[in-house]
Amino acid sequence: MTPTPRRLIVGISGASGIVYGLRLLEILRSVEIETHVVVSNAAKVTLALETDRKLADLQALADVWYQTNDIGAAISSGSFRTEGMIVCPCSMRTLAEIANGITGSLLPRAADVVLKERRRLVLVARETPLHLGHIRNMAAVTEMGAIVYPPVPAMYARPASIDEMIDHTVGRVLDLFGIDAGVVRRWREAPDEPGGEPNGV
Ligand SMILES: Cc1cc2nc3c(=O)[nH]c(=O)nc-3n(C[C@H](O)[C@H](O)[C@H](O)COP(=O)(O)O)c2cc1C
Repeated sequence: MTPTPRRLIVGISGASGIVYGLRLLEILRSVEIETHVVVSNAAKVTLALETDRKLADLQALADVWYQTNDIGAAISSGSFRTEGMIVCPCSMRTLAEIANGITGSLLPRAADVVLKERRRLVLVARETPLHLGHIRNMAAVTEMGAIVYPPVPAMYARPASIDEMIDHTVGRVLDLFGIDAGVVRRWREAPDEPGGEPNGV
């Protein structure tokens, strides 16, 4: 079999925090992972409302860009090899679609394919507070093999800026794929990491 490039699908849906998706793509570019990117229509709205970036800026970060209605795209087939998919951020609507196998557009279809092929799927699910339907959908995708990773800031890392908080979250998501881009301040791995010198306390 031909060797596959390190390749990840990135889905960006319309939850708050599109900056996480943007940063994820920047980091994946820096570590030379090939990205296949699909963005929901609602994410185009959050991009405009939450950032000063244009759609073209987002497209420029993708190695391969797909239209959300391109249901015949490479990533809609399990025979197209990838290491998995990150939905970042993941809205409750997209979560619900994935939890219920509703594959009417390319983003949930690609996620469905990743699940059926038993590849890694990480959902950076963002909403608060949660109702029982959200929690049930999170339980359903977890039972199907996905990982729900809410973008909760890690205060133990003592972030000095929002950028550091974002990097920590994105870096920990990438840990789940065995990708270390050097953006995580790891607890007590070194004296200058958070937690400081192990002091026996
Ligand atoms: C500025 C903004 C912030 C939003 N934040 C969230 C959110 O944090 N979580 C969520 O589930 N939906 C959020 N929404 C609503 C979703 O965009 C909406 O439910 C949309 O239909 C999701 O579609 P998609 O899953 O196809 O992207 C937000 C919408 C806007 C405009």
